[in-house]
Amino acid sequence: MIKYNQSARTIKLSNGSVDYVLYINNDNIVETAYFGKSFKCENYNALRNYNTVFVDTYFVDGEEKYYEHGFNFQASRLELGSHARIDKRCSPVIIRRGNGSYETDFRYVSHASYKGIKPLNGLPCAHGENCETVEILFKDYTSELYATLFVTLFSDKDIIVKNFVIRNGGERVELLCAKSMQLDLPSMDYDWVHFGGRWSEERQLKRSLLHDGAQQVSSNRGVSSHYENPFTYLQAKDATADYGEVIGFNLIYSGNFKFDCECGVWQGTHITYGINEEDFCWTLNNGESFTTPQAVISYSYAGTDKMSQNFHSFIKDNLISYRHDREYKPVLFNSWEGCYFDFGTDSIISYIDDAAKIGSELFVLDDGWFGVRNDDRTSLGDWKVNGKKLDLHKVVEHCRKKGLKFGIWFEPEMVSPVSELYSRHSDYALKGENKTEHTAHRHQYVLDFTNPAVVDDIYCQMRTFIVEYKPDYVKWDYNRMVYEHVSPRLGSRQGEVYHRLILGYYSLIGRLTAEFPDLMIEGCAGGGARFDMGTLYYAPQIWTSDESNPARRLFINYYTSLGYPLSTMGTHVNDSTITDYENKANFALFGTYGYEMNPNKLTEEQCTQLKKVADIYKQYHNAVVNNGTLYHLLSPEDGNAVCLQCVSQDKTQSLVLFATIASEREKYRFLRLKGLNPEYNYRVEGEGIYTGEYLSTVGINMCSQWFNEHTFRLLIITRE
Ligand code: DGJ
Repeated sequence: MIKYNQSARTIKLSNGSVDYVLYINNDNIVETAYFGKSFKCENYNALRNYNTVFVDTYFVDGEEKYYEHGFNFQASRLELGSHARIDKRCSPVIIRRGNGSYETDFRYVSHASYKGIKPLNGLPCAHGENCETVEILFKDYTSELYATLFVTLFSDKDIIVKNFVIRNGGERVELLCAKSMQLDLPSMDYDWVHFGGRWSEERQLKRSLLHDGAQQVSSNRGVSSHYENPFTYLQAKDATADYGEVIGFNLIYSGNFKFDCECGVWQGTHITYGINEEDFCWTLNNGESFTTPQAVISYSYAGTDKMSQNFHSFIKDNLISYRHDREYKPVLFNSWEGCYFDFGTDSIISYIDDAAKIGSELFVLDDGWFGVRNDDRTSLGDWKVNGKKLDLHKVVEHCRKKGLKFGIWFEPEMVSPVSELYSRHSDYALKGENKTEHTAHRHQYVLDFTNPAVVDDIYCQMRTFIVEYKPDYVKWDYNRMVYEHVSPRLGSRQGEVYHRLILGYYSLIGRLTAEFPDLMIEGCAGGGARFDMGTLYYAPQIWTSDESNPARRLFINYYTSLGYPLSTMGTHVNDSTITDYENKANFALFGTYGYEMNPNKLTEEQCTQLKKVADIYKQYHNAVVNNGTLYHLLSPEDGNAVCLQCVSQDKTQSLVLFATIASEREKYRFLRLKGLNPEYNYRVEGEGIYTGEYLSTVGINMCSQWFNEHTFRLLIITRE
């Protein structure tokens, strides 16, 4: 997959579907000769961005010299642009030297390639043997600063993973920007899509034309955030769901990020992506190095669905480390929306009894079980059961007796000012320069996870709980952003706080998942503020949003599924009155499937509806949704209906969700399916028997059907 052509000075990564070709020019500057669909090519030199009019030269002892023919810093596509020299596009690596200068000049030194991908120390990362990596060592021309670029290409999916490790072998420098990748594209004829939003309305699709100048998405909130997501893509203007070039980007990271797209210079697109440099400054002493998180690129020349499927299969095969991810996951019942903080042993036991009647297999006790927490004003940090409120042993025993697994809620990175932990250690909370006013949100402070002692304290408390109560599942919440972020113990190195907080998060969740590998963790952050690849490495599913009304959640789930598999998207049926329970449950099937309501209040008819869909979940979900392939048949952008289809790997089963945003009446509509075997006969429940060829060519006739708004129609398709 990786070939070095010594005479042509090219390194070619190819999996037969996508090619990534690097050219080490005669000045030892590494150019991106080609990135795109595989094709037969002998002469990559012809693909370089030539510019023979505006050439850059340099003088040595009064003699003018030329860079390699046609090379121009402004026009050439580079793997690592050097800062504060001729190239004025933003560089992924910016340092300040001891003498105050910002200049770097990175040149190729050597490279090596190998099978697989190396793990990153302390950071979540891709894994697997189905890939090859080339690492390229660069050295700054005038100092002992080194940057190693890692590029990995997967053999069975068009996914490229890139990152840098920056090492200082000389005098102390400050790293002011440490992005994970640079990618220069020879065109700017793309639409740019990103996913903005807010609490309960996360990841709404935003599309605009790339324009001259800089455009970016970022977070500076300490988490990937409700407001923007690290997933973003460029799509050729003529691209559709299954046609045209689409290039997706993501980052295996949960903190501040910045995706920067600079267009206009030679009509190209210059992309840098990685940790947000705002408030970032990392000191590198002699001998120290800094590892950037991995950036993930999905390349598709067959439309947005291929880009999504590349990401989905990468996340499932090469990112999630939970060892049971591919196995059947139990139907989850969560207590939060049913009773909030208002519960006791008896009421929870009656919840468990009624949850079991609607097919639940895992009961999760949410917020309110610890310290003296009866509202959101106290006790975060005191992870001991509130014995006055609850006999938790009895609850766990009851779960087991009824054949249910047991799960529990934590918010490990927070502390309430009213708590035992805070009265013992007020210094554990992250504060600002103002020593009298400390900003709280939801009445809580962020713990200073840059301090290993703080991480250790929470680890010991969580570990004690897990050993005593043996939960099968933990919901890991995070209900505020980072505001002031002064950590006095870091002295003048405050530019390291944001990244060290994330390293603290990874160290805690990493320790717990290593010690309890069967424990399933679901990520959460006030709904979906930390829905990212960094969290997915440890937690195979994430609570997608606090908005569970399917009429609104439909948009969130649809757009999220463009970058993330449905199986990672925590989705529950709640008591929203928008439509009936069967409809709501049909929608939740296209996520992780669970319940969140007062089960004591369900009528017999509602229980029957939920039980019916739970049985469908048990029969089909693992093969079709958890391990299947997703197709986006109708997008909310297209009109009043949205349609998703999942197909099992062996193409014998498929589930289709046809959901209406507004009523759909008197409309000619044939729903053409995808991913089926044209030779097979399929039974479409309630519709008849058709060949796969018929279903993809003609489609299911929906013309005579009238759909009210907020209908979530499920089609079950099985091979005859
Ligand atoms: C925010 C989460 O998104 C909710 O599901 C719930 O767990 C609450 N926090 C509990 O405080």
